[in-house]
Amino acid sequence: MDDNIIDGRAISEEILDIVKRRVSELKIPPKLSVVFCGNDQGSDIYTKIKKREGEKIGFQVDIHRFDEKITQKELISDVKKLCNISDGVLVQLPLPNHIDKREVLKNISPEKDVDGLSPFNLGNLFLGDESFPPATPKAIITMLEKSNVELAGKNVVIINNSLLIGKPLAIMMSNRKATITICNSNTQDIIEHTKNADILISGVGKPGFIRKPMLKKGVVLIDAGICKFKGKVSGDADFEEVKDICSKITPVPGGVGPVTVATVLENTLNAYLRRKN
Ligand code: GUN
Repeated sequence: MDDNIIDGRAISEEILDIVKRRVSELKIPPKLSVVFCGNDQGSDIYTKIKKREGEKIGFQVDIHRFDEKITQKELISDVKKLCNISDGVLVQLPLPNHIDKREVLKNISPEKDVDGLSPFNLGNLFLGDESFPPATPKAIITMLEKSNVELAGKNVVIINNSLLIGKPLAIMMSNRKATITICNSNTQDIIEHTKNADILISGVGKPGFIRKPMLKKGVVLIDAGICKFKGKVSGDADFEEVKDICSKITPVPGGVGPVTVATVLENTLNAYLRRKN
């Protein structure tokens, strides 16, 4: 592998090895319940990977699939029930349009919230308490730390304004004293911002969106975009075009995705241990 590539699979294995060892010492395996509503393709892929990887290292992982016509009331009632019988509960996003995700996320018990998306745990992020960190932002920070990328004082540009990536990541980066810019689909002249980035995180979901003229030489590029393009899983970057201008770059597949899955399982083990101790 080129020496500027951040290998998500290797980092994920490192995390999973430690989690596996600790799970093997437990009498009862941690139980993770994943709630999946409707039929979003990307979310479905991640759900299946969470189950496969979790079971490989000794977790019980149950996927609860609900029809996209489920009412908000029924869904909330099921989430509450799952919180009573699981060590970790995770509601896959997006939810169908008629469901207000805020109302659902409010009903995940904070001590079972292994995706860190409940208002209580998001509020704690603002206070600098990251005991239940959102999985993708935490995965990105782990990848940067393991690659010895300093955050304090750096210009970080995030092209994603969502609850799953951009918003919590901005707070976590700010907790580490980086200077943050969040771009969204209304941002004027995005290159003005990206050209200034020491660290660029892209979560757009458009293959080929990140091109060489957008980047400063030596940028660290974290590609958190994912979609299927011509039958292949692709990120946002035109990888071959940009890889030589980046001091470090994450590939897709094999980048942020596997580390996110490992982080969810690590969060689930931590939630289990916190409650038992
Ligand atoms: N949809 C796609 N990825 C994720 C994830 O990591 N967490 C949640 N909650 N929903 C997702």
